[in-house]
Amino acid sequence: MSVRSLGYLGFAVKDVPAWRDFMTAKLGLQEVAGDAEGARYRLDSRAWRIAVEAGEEDDLAYAGYEVADPAELTQMAERLRGAGVAVTEGDAALAKRRGVLGLITFTDPFGLPLEIYYGPSEVFEHPFTSPAGVSGFRTGEQGLGHFVRCVPDTQKALAFYTEALGFQLSDVIDIKAGPQVVVPAYFLHCNGRHHTLALASFPLPRRIHHFMIEANTLDDVGLAYDRIAAEDRITMTFGRHSNDHMVSFYAVTPSGFDVEFGWGARAVEPGWTVVRHDAISVWGHKPVRQSAPAPGRIILNGEPA
Ligand SMILES: [Fe+2]
Repeated sequence: MSVRSLGYLGFAVKDVPAWRDFMTAKLGLQEVAGDAEGARYRLDSRAWRIAVEAGEEDDLAYAGYEVADPAELTQMAERLRGAGVAVTEGDAALAKRRGVLGLITFTDPFGLPLEIYYGPSEVFEHPFTSPAGVSGFRTGEQGLGHFVRCVPDTQKALAFYTEALGFQLSDVIDIKAGPQVVVPAYFLHCNGRHHTLALASFPLPRRIHHFMIEANTLDDVGLAYDRIAAEDRITMTFGRHSNDHMVSFYAVTPSGFDVEFGWGARAVEPGWTVVRHDAISVWGHKPVRQSAPAPGRIILNGEPA
């Protein structure tokens, strides 16, 4: 068995107000509760999906993976302990804060705090309303989206995420991360979403290169592009990825790592077989030079225009 989906993400950021504007006015997520110390955002029928809290890291602080019920949570805890992972039962206070019925906490081999939970809060009585007019986001069985985890040892991370959490390899892209630099990226699924996680040894100062959310329509992506381009935040132009076939663009968040805003990805179907690619994109995804680039940024698709 594996975790069912990526359920939620928590970021620790220096500039909470800048994130508030970025999440609502630019990405079109709905703020549900917040103060100067942070906020939580919705993008579907769940009570929240992304938490943004005040912190010095400007990085992903934790990720939560969902299982179906208490029996699966117990199985995952046993599986992790069997793999030598130190697992802690989440207490009632943490469960209440996350709005879940039960959870366990642990870290990946390179220090990213992870949680597995069951029983998230649904709020169908408060329909999702995007403040920027996004028609909606594709979640459901495919979960929140994906993120690309930067690790110093890809094989060690791959062993952990496949053997302990049950992810399966979708494909590998040998990414050109500089004129003479090729970095293999491993794309992993735990449901129909082509990748819920990707692993690569990018030499970045952050835990992730980017996280991705998938809108319901192509127009949602185009309209988001226009909103974000007006602020000189685009880092890669409109394009279609070679592996999941997603049409998307990339933009820099107020914390210096990227967000991918996409639509139209294909799913992994039964009978899927692992392949490899030399290119990340069929077309587009051209790097855009930032007028004020964040330190440690990495250019994935050749030199910026
Ligand atoms: Fe992505």
